[in-house]
Amino acid sequence: MGFRDHALSARARYAPRVAAIKLRPVQEDDLEALAAGQSREADPWDWFGFRPANALRRHFVADGMISQESGTLAVETSGGTLVGTVSWFAVQHGPSAACRAWNIGISLFPDHRGREYGSAAQRALAEYLFATTLFERVEAETDIENIAEQRALEKAGFTREGVLRHSQFRDGRWRDNVLYGVLRAEVDSARP
Ligand SMILES: CC(C)(COP(=O)(O)OP(=O)(O)OC[C@H]1O[C@@H](n2cnc3c(N)ncnc32)[C@H](O)[C@@H]1OP(=O)(O)O)[C@@H](O)C(=O)NCCC(=O)NCCS
Repeated sequence: MGFRDHALSARARYAPRVAAIKLRPVQEDDLEALAAGQSREADPWDWFGFRPANALRRHFVADGMISQESGTLAVETSGGTLVGTVSWFAVQHGPSAACRAWNIGISLFPDHRGREYGSAAQRALAEYLFATTLFERVEAETDIENIAEQRALEKAGFTREGVLRHSQFRDGRWRDNVLYGVLRAEVDSARP
């Protein structure tokens, strides 16, 4: 499949029947809800051990959770209800600055899952990153057993690229992750 066909098929897969959501910087008032959303019960996919009780607040105080290398944004509904966060950090695929990509993540609060906010928010984050940085590629990894996230990424226009065997150790065993990616040309609103 050529690059253009590849891009078209990725766009065709993105079905914008998605719920309306908004991304915005995290505010101090959000911190309590965000901390609760990080617990093992609320988000077992992202639980790699206890974090210091004040870790979120320290991160917030340090840089408002947005820096040149990484970031976290709040996800809220069009009515202003906080439903979770999206985040990103730079990954290096080679020796130079031209070999960097963004790796993104998401965590929605349990009560707000299953309403297509996940696909909408990850699409919005890819659009935001392409609109504000020069990176060519946005990628996401998720546990091979996390079907909801795989579906959400596919609905957001990401392409399934492969499996990273035993790439994470979580909850007592090695986990295979699926790698997804979307390129700048596959996101219409990022085109010049
Ligand atoms: C994963 C997550 C972002 C998905 O967002 P969401 O808004 O809940 O999901 P959506 O409503 O967009 O639906 C995604 C798809 O997964 C499906 N799905 C949801 N839960 C599922 C489950 N337990 N098993 C199988 N499929 C599931 C939905 O049916 C939907 O598919 P469809 O459109 O073909 O019907 C969200 O559930 C979440 O934050 N989960 C906890 C944290 C997490 O897993 N983050 C990703 C870690 S890398």
